[in-house]
Amino acid sequence: MIKPGRFIVVEGLEGAGKSSAIATIRNWLQQHQIQVVCTREPGGTPLAEQLRTLVKQIDNNEQLAPETELLLMYAARVQLLTNVIRPALSRGDWVLADRHDMSSRAYQGGGRQLDELLINNLRSTVLGNTRPDLTLYLDIDPAVGLSRAAARGELDRIEQEQLAFFVRTRQKYLQIAATEPDIVSIDASQPLAAVQQAIVSALNDYFSGQADG
Ligand SMILES: Nc1ncnc2c1ncn2[C@@H]1O[C@H](COP(=O)(O)OP(=O)(O)OP(=O)(O)O)[C@@H](O)[C@H]1O
Ligand SMILES: [Mg+2]
Repeated sequence: MIKPGRFIVVEGLEGAGKSSAIATIRNWLQQHQIQVVCTREPGGTPLAEQLRTLVKQIDNNEQLAPETELLLMYAARVQLLTNVIRPALSRGDWVLADRHDMSSRAYQGGGRQLDELLINNLRSTVLGNTRPDLTLYLDIDPAVGLSRAAARGELDRIEQEQLAFFVRTRQKYLQIAATEPDIVSIDASQPLAAVQQAIVSALNDYFSGQADG
């Protein structure tokens, strides 16, 4: 029987260092000769990438209602789970995700303050029992993260939100991370080398003995 792969998620605000963390984790997986499929959310399939464009674009003629934003995120997530994540895990590949469900809980739940019951219903239907084995949450002050992200170029619709939106989002992230044992919080305001070291030790702690079969 094929041993199912593991599901690792990287979370955090814009500019927290998720893309940098993904590179570190890919390296670690490569050293352990583990096949990995990398995903990003929203996105990761052709249709989900179109939904990503819709969610990020700035349309001055029609505001995107918060509930629409939430549903588009979950629509994209269903596509990705069905077509990419679950098939990869059942082949025995590992999945490395740049954002997943925790983002919706933090941004749409915390940032947009949408009804938790609605979000929880979507979560249980859409996720089923596909849950991350390990989530690395990169914690950053939103002002610091946004200034890192802004240095990279133009800001999208969500990135243009007021600071208060990201403060609420971070609060929700921290609240979730504090109560769920499979989420490891990393102080992402540290220099990159220290963040990388924290990531590698979390991987070693979490998957000791599992990575080699
Ligand atoms: N620990 C760090 N200290 C200082 N700068 C960092 C650190 N980590 C990443 N950076 C820099 O900050 C910028 C944003 O990092 P990165 O792209 O990894 O963040 P991200 O979380 O993927 O952002 P986004 O949400 O926009 O995709 C990059 O220029 C990166 O080199
Ligand atoms: Mg990134």
